[in-house]
Formats: sequence, structure tokens, C-alpha cells
Amino acid sequence: MLNIIFFGPPGSGKGTQSKMLLKKYKLEYISTGDILRDHIAKRTPQGVEAKALIDKGQLVPDELVVQLLESKLTENKDANGFLFDGFPRTLVQAYILEGLLLKINTSLHTVIALDVPKEELTRRLLNRAHIEGRSDDNEIVIQERFREYDNKTFPVIDFYKSRNMFIPIDGTGTETKIFERVENVIDGVVKESSYNVVLIGRPGSGKGTQGEIFAKKHNFHYLSTGELLLSEINKGSEIGKNVKSLYSNGISVPDELIIRLVEEEMRKYNEHRGYIFKGFPRTLIQTYILEGMLRRMNTSISLVVYLDVPMLNCFKRLSKRAQTNDARPYDLTTDLIIGRMEEFETKINPVIKYFKSKNKLVRVNGIGSPEEVAEELDQILVKSLKKII
Ligand code: AP5
Ligand code: MG
Repeated sequence: MLNIIFFGPPGSGKGTQSKMLLKKYKLEYISTGDILRDHIAKRTPQGVEAKALIDKGQLVPDELVVQLLESKLTENKDANGFLFDGFPRTLVQAYILEGLLLKINTSLHTVIALDVPKEELTRRLLNRAHIEGRSDDNEIVIQERFREYDNKTFPVIDFYKSRNMFIPIDGTGTETKIFERVENVIDGVVKESSYNVVLIGRPGSGKGTQGEIFAKKHNFHYLSTGELLLSEINKGSEIGKNVKSLYSNGISVPDELIIRLVEEEMRKYNEHRGYIFKGFPRTLIQTYILEGMLRRMNTSISLVVYLDVPMLNCFKRLSKRAQTNDARPYDLTTDLIIGRMEEFETKINPVIKYFKSKNKLVRVNGIGSPEEVAEELDQILVKSLKKII
């Protein structure tokens, strides 16, 4: 999710820039001004209460705004992100927004503030009065809106400055020029954000090969639970001793142990674009666990790639590998391979269904040379991740 606030005094161009931004990124638009004007037009009880205040240039009470906004957020909790225009406008609203976003498992990415001198703002608003005829665009009310902004909205700046999210930009010049500045800010934010990708696929589908290639190329941390287990076994650690026989027989290791290893690895490596998880999660329970772990780190699963290779091809690949120096103990007999295939087929379906319902699953054809598959995976992943944020 990409969540952005457009901040700035009346007439600074929040609405204008929002329209341009929405065209580029598919975000849910939340303009409290528009929502209130809609209520006024429909003469709802909230609209009647708001009209009297808006016509005087005063802010409407926090409770009223939050009431109208909350349902819009929860109804769209699966959106690509939210663009807020004219909200939050008070410190209380800023705190409330933090809580509301947390409730739908997301958080704010940036606050873009449009800087425009007061004389220019007044000129723009009086000019808009001729075009749109908004009841609050007249000289007296404009002055009151500025006063409300200075008294109640301006303090919100410090709130976001202290969270390192406040980015002021020059709001003068042509709309296109300003939009270029906005885009620059967002590109920077996107670059800094972390993505987490889960790779799933049958044993032998090439997850390890592909995961490592992609991680190296795009500065992700490749996290394979199979490899973490193997390194514990080789070290002869307590965990290693416990799991040795399960591992060699291709039997799933208890969740508690896997979680410990994954958590430790994530604590050690966190300076990168995100993780590529391979071999984990492989059950719905592990999926929920991973989601919880990532949430605590203020991030989430961005995308799940299903590397699709038919069972027969996987079988052939694994049997072939079993005859090389790279042979794994769990590939040595047909029974072992069948056992792992069965385990995969039964446990992974609920996981696939879960991510499909969240619109996070992409399928990549895993047939072809490793280079060919890597190229397709690269294209699909880069495109999908761009869409996400
Ligand atoms: P709201 O609708 O949010 O109004 P506002 O903050 O006063 O902002 P405006 O919509 O007037 O300006 P804008 O920054 O969107 O600029 P725009 O792009 O239109 O709120 C209205 C009222 O509702 C408030 O006063 C309050 O009472 C209430 N309210 C709303 N939210 C609330 C909340 N959260 N809590 C409490 N009360 C709330 O541009 C302005 C004009 O300039 C346009 O004509 C445009 O074409 C022109 N323009 C834009 N860019 C440029 C440019 N680069 N060069 C020249 N002209 C430009
Ligand atoms: Mg506006």
C-alpha cells in the first residue's frame, strides 16, 4: 500500500495535484472537503451541520470528519493505497489517522506539503470563485480559512516532521512543473520502501535457483528455511540435532523451530529492499505467522509468486539431481519425492487460495532454461511490484 497526504493551505493546489496523481497511481482518493460538500448537496444531518461552519471558513468538528472517513477506509482496506487531501487538519485528526491505518494493517508513507505564498493563494481562490462558485471562496471567508489553517492545521506539520515524513515542495509554477516535483518525491519514497516476496512452487520447481538470482540482482535478502536448517545441521547446533532426521526424510519441521530461525535471520539482515522467502510459509498457519512477524516490522507480504512446473517435470528434475554431487538426502528415493509432493499439494492449496483472495498471487511459468525463467520472473515481479506501490 502507498499512503500519501497532500498538505497545504487553502488554494495551494491539493485538489489539482491529487487529480493528476490519481491518474498515475491507482489510489483511493479521500478528500474530506469533497465528502463534506457531497453531504451538504444531499442535505444529510452531517451536511447541515457542516454547511454552517464551512460557510464561515471554520473547520468542522473532528468527530464529524472522522465518522465520515472511517467507513471509507475500512470499505477499501484492500486498495493499492490512499491519497488524503485536506485531512488531517488538526493534531487530533493526525493521531486518529495513525490509529485508523493501523486498524487496516497499513501506515502512512509520506506527507507532501505544497508551499505557496498567501497573495498567490488568495488570487487563485478568488479566481476559482468565478469558475466553480464554491460558497467559501470569497474574500472574508478565505481570510478566516487562512486563520483556521494557521491556528489548527499548521501545528500538524511538527507531528509529521518528528516522524520524518514531512516533505515540503515549491507549489508555485505550472501544474505540470509542480507535478514533476511531486512525482520525484514519490519515486524516492517508493525506492526506499520494502517489498517482501514469497516464492511457492512444487519441490524441484526452481524456487531456490530463481529466488537467489532475483535477490542478488535487486538487492533483496534471500531467506530459505531449507538452507537455514541445513546450516544448523552442519553446525551441529541444538536445533540442527533436533531436525536432522526430519530434514533428511523430507518431513516438515515443527513450526516453533522454523519461526525461531526465520525471526533470527530477519533480525540479522534488514538493510535491503526486502525479503524473498523460499520454502516458507508452506501452510496457512505459517502464512499467518509470517504476516504477524512482518507487521511488527511495519511491513507486509507484497506479492506471492507461484512458480508453476507440472509434477512430472519436477519429478524428472529431482531424480536427475539425485544422481549428481548436488544430491539432497530427501531426493534419494521415489518414495521420499512422492511424500514431499503430497505434502505440498495438500498444504499449499489453502495458502494459494488465501493470497488469490487478497489479489497478491501471480503465476510464473517455471518451464524453460533457468535463464529464460529468470527473465520472465524478473519482468513479472518488477511490473507487479511497481503496481503495488
Ligand atoms: P477543502 O475542500 O479541503 O478546501 P481547502 O483546504 O480550503 O482547499 P481548497 O480546495 O480550497 O484548495 P486546494 O489546495 O485543493 O487547491 P485547488 O487544487 O482547488 O475544505 C473546505 C472546508 O471543509 C474547510 O474550510 C473546512 O470547513 C471543511 N473541512 C474539510 N476537511 C476538513 C477536516 N479534515 N477537518 C475539519 N474540517 C474540514 O486549487 C485552487 C485553485 O487554484 C483552483 O482554481 C486551481 O485551478 C488553481 N490552481 C491550482 N494549481 C495552480 C497553479 N499551479 N497555478 C495557478 N493556479 C493553480
Ligand atoms: Mg481542494
